[in-house]
Amino acid sequence: MFHKILRAINYIFGPEQAQAVVLQVLHSIGYIPAGRWLLHKIYAVEHPSLEREVFGMRFKNPIGLAAGYDRNAFAFRELSALGFGFVEVGTITPRPQMGNPRPRIFRLDRDSAIFHRTGMANRGLERAIDRLRRPHEGTIVGCNIGCNAITPAESQAADYLRVFRNLYQYADYFTVNISCNPTLKSHTCGAVERINEILAPMIEFRRGQNQYRPILLKISPDLTDSEVDAVTDIMLSSPLDGIVATDSTASREGVTSLPEALRRSNTGTISGAPLTQRSIEIVARIYERSKGAYPIIGVGGLMTPADVQAMLNAGATLVQLYTGFVYEGMKLVRESCRALIREEENRQ
Ligand SMILES: Cc1cc2nc3c(=O)[nH]c(=O)nc-3n(C[C@H](O)[C@H](O)[C@H](O)COP(=O)(O)O)c2cc1C
Repeated sequence: MFHKILRAINYIFGPEQAQAVVLQVLHSIGYIPAGRWLLHKIYAVEHPSLEREVFGMRFKNPIGLAAGYDRNAFAFRELSALGFGFVEVGTITPRPQMGNPRPRIFRLDRDSAIFHRTGMANRGLERAIDRLRRPHEGTIVGCNIGCNAITPAESQAADYLRVFRNLYQYADYFTVNISCNPTLKSHTCGAVERINEILAPMIEFRRGQNQYRPILLKISPDLTDSEVDAVTDIMLSSPLDGIVATDSTASREGVTSLPEALRRSNTGTISGAPLTQRSIEIVARIYERSKGAYPIIGVGGLMTPADVQAMLNAGATLVQLYTGFVYEGMKLVRESCRALIREEENRQ
């Protein structure tokens, strides 16, 4: 029933408000004694064949929630109790930022897609620490980190390092989001250098720690094949631990229901079904080039259990959902888990 409520909320409210209401409802359930236990009992699908050992951690299933939904780490334990195998919070920047004016999230029902231009609105590092300080109760939490929009290029690496250092003890892994800066996002030769400049101090800091925290890089689906190869090579030649592929796309191709004004604007990106094919292709390309040696988190347009299976078949070790979760609620996670169990049983 809860997934029906989630779906109803998603349809009754505007997309951004719906997200806030869902998180608030989940957060409130967390205050009820045994609330999370009950959510887990009723909704989570558990089976030994779903478990994955990645980065030295045991994931209860390979399906996670992508960054941007629980940006301020408000309800990560409840989302995990509902059945996600892991939850990526963020993007978190050092200082709070308002992002772009509302409305800034639009559901494109006919395209099974979402258009957003949130501009990485978030409540900043201090608030994230307050939230992430709470016991994680077995939830695997990834922290997606970024720089503030107003930070000048020469100080961006310091922004990433600040968030990384301060969240180090609270996260199970980190995802470096480079979309705060168009230069970094473009992955030109200069961008590869800049990415290394961001990663180097983080890796240096990690060397001095007792606990090892994997660092992943999140990439855009708008990279050309050769840019995907260049990013894969960064992973092969640096202590980067994996790649999250992909973010949402700046392309409007194949999208029919985007209002003309948004189509023409050069801000904003699209998530959901229009991304499925390209994100799976990119994951397959990275997998092949890296010979499967690195974990890849596959994300982008996973709208059905078959999409989830295709992404895993392409070489993803884990997957994440965003738009599919907005449209289908927890049903998509449950059905995908069940399909994976069936697939495993058929294989035996
Ligand atoms: C409204 C919205 C906000 C997002 N915010 C973030 C973000 O803050 N950081 C990030 O790395 N990705 C963000 N994303 C991208 C998603 O994490 C995901 O990579 C992308 O939407 C593709 O997956 P999907 O097709 O399943 O939605 C956002 C996506 C949407 C739709």
